[in-house]
Amino acid sequence: MTGVTITGWGTALPEQVVTNEDITTLFDTSDEWIFERSGIRSRRTATGPFVKPPPPVDPPANGLGTTGTLAAEAGRKALEMAGVAPEQVRLVIVCTTTPDQLIPANSASVAAALGIRSGAMDLNAACAGFTYGLVTASGLVAAGAERVLLIGAETLSRATNWNDRTNAFLFGDGAGAVLVEAVPGEGSLLAWDLGVDGNLVPLLYAQHGSGMVMRGQEVFRRAVLATVDSATASLERAKLTIDDIALFVPHQANIRIIEAAASRLKLPPERIASVIQRTGNTSSASIPLALIDAIENGRVHDGDHLLLAGFGAGMTWASAVWRWQDPPGR
Ligand code: UT7
Repeated sequence: MTGVTITGWGTALPEQVVTNEDITTLFDTSDEWIFERSGIRSRRTATGPFVKPPPPVDPPANGLGTTGTLAAEAGRKALEMAGVAPEQVRLVIVCTTTPDQLIPANSASVAAALGIRSGAMDLNAACAGFTYGLVTASGLVAAGAERVLLIGAETLSRATNWNDRTNAFLFGDGAGAVLVEAVPGEGSLLAWDLGVDGNLVPLLYAQHGSGMVMRGQEVFRRAVLATVDSATASLERAKLTIDDIALFVPHQANIRIIEAAASRLKLPPERIASVIQRTGNTSSASIPLALIDAIENGRVHDGDHLLLAGFGAGMTWASAVWRWQDPPGR
């Protein structure tokens, strides 16, 4: 069995910072209410009411205005850091729930931007997408793929109903990428859990051409349960306990969901990775953004056990126990 490790990483965020004060110009709300209910102070947006000049149209423009350009920028940084040439990558997986177009997959333009020709596909498991992608990439490496570039990228600003005060303040745009490479032995992925309950589609969805619809309280309640149950299943499969976990890297949907799940898992606040205050909910991008922020702030050390856990529309959920290995030379 071939194991996997992460040898490079990178992020990309659009330039436009949208503060809660900005959001108050759209509908009746306040910075205090948004922060208290969600833990969010600001988010980055590539499109939407605060982006000037107006949102890019097809064909996608340059800059960081699309899911594809954000993904390519994050992916380019990950390859650069790993010192890996595009022709050494066997597959690009772009995890996204907001692709730039219906056909073809977003990963095609990302592969073209990066000079990769060996294979590309999109993966949509909503906010659980990156963890689904990590498990998929690891399986493909075990099957001989050697190097998979895994990217979580979103422009949720395009799927947001900016007139809906019950959820428009939650979402943001961005991308995070990791290069997943083969290593001899067990590698970093010690255990994982994936799940879906498709009967819960009506809780959170967006139809073609219209914004997101969400039953916030119900999603909140189920998100806490799904995160805790899935994380517990992964820990059991890894034969570890919560005390073995150095850092919890949850999906960044709402700080209250993160804290409620952490408290049920008996994880103290200092072992939680969070960027939600300045990114909002970036769906597939949120776990890599939180993970990479923690790495770059010296919170992740060689041999640490990380617990990744996400949930999202579908509803989907996913978790993984990952034993961090510092890449050579770091
Ligand atoms: O990635 C996965 C997807 N999404 C999520 O994980 C989100 C899950 N849900 C949540 O995070 C929370 O449900 C929200 C942050 C969306 C909302 O927080 P809440 O504590 O569930 O608030 P609520 O919907 O129960 O609303 C409380 C009150 C209501 O007023 P009444 O009926 O109590 O008088 C709302 O009308 O707050 C009102 N309200 C607002 N007030 C100020 C709703 N939106 C706003 C707003 N500003 N933007």
